[in-house]
Amino acid sequence: MVVALNLAMFGPPGAGKGTQARRLATERGIPQVSTGDILREAVQGGTELGREVKAIMDAGELVGDDVMLGIVRERLSKADASGGFILDGFPRTVAQATALDDILEGRQGLVVLEIAVGDETLVNRLSRRRVCGNCGAIVGDTNGEAQLLCPTCGGELSQRSDDREDVVRGRLEVYHRETAPLVEFYQGRASFRTVDGDQPPEVVAQAVQAALSAVNGAAA
Ligand code: AP5
Repeated sequence: MVVALNLAMFGPPGAGKGTQARRLATERGIPQVSTGDILREAVQGGTELGREVKAIMDAGELVGDDVMLGIVRERLSKADASGGFILDGFPRTVAQATALDDILEGRQGLVVLEIAVGDETLVNRLSRRRVCGNCGAIVGDTNGEAQLLCPTCGGELSQRSDDREDVVRGRLEVYHRETAPLVEFYQGRASFRTVDGDQPPEVVAQAVQAALSAVNGAAA
């Protein structure tokens, strides 16, 4: 029997959730479900949801649990998520985590990975992050050079509106207050692992694979 990977990744802003989720989703042929990306698309598309959440996101606050749960419930019910998925940035509160267990009732077990990185590293990383408007690639350290075009597709790179240092520090505060308690929520589960995200991306990817193998081994 093929075991579906139902994975949720959480960690502070800039920990590398998107980088690792994108890579793993491509390798496994399952969707990356980034709640941040879904919300940003709604903002860009000027939808009702987008108008509702824009100011909240620009301020680095969390969108309400009810709104987020509606989005995730609908996304996970789509056919492409039936063989597995990678949740990137969800859950983010204990209420979301509790509701996720209900949403997933009857499906194969949820694996949860925390990607841990210290605050100062994150502030530094996010000040350098650029995102491609064409292919969505996340571009990291530009060695102080103002990189304008995507190294993957040549598309235009831009900075996220919530990556200004003052907003990043606020997002970190929100993380410690609202999301860090998830460690305690998941701590007792054999399918929960923490990965050190303060290493080069390829090394983090290996650590993610090792954590997934360890969870599989423990379940066997
Ligand atoms: P979201 O888009 O989820 O933002 P976030 O959690 O703050 O995380 P980021 O996307 O900033 O970082 P990341 O961990 O994905 O890191 P990345 O791989 O890009 O959410 C945005 C907003 O939407 C929230 O503030 C909130 O308002 C709302 N929202 C979303 N989900 C919600 C929910 N569930 N509930 C309520 N509200 C919600 O990497 C960052 C940078 O570091 C890049 O430049 C990358 O190249 C570089 N990098 C990555 N890995 C490494 C490494 N190992 N070493 C060095 N550099 C690295």
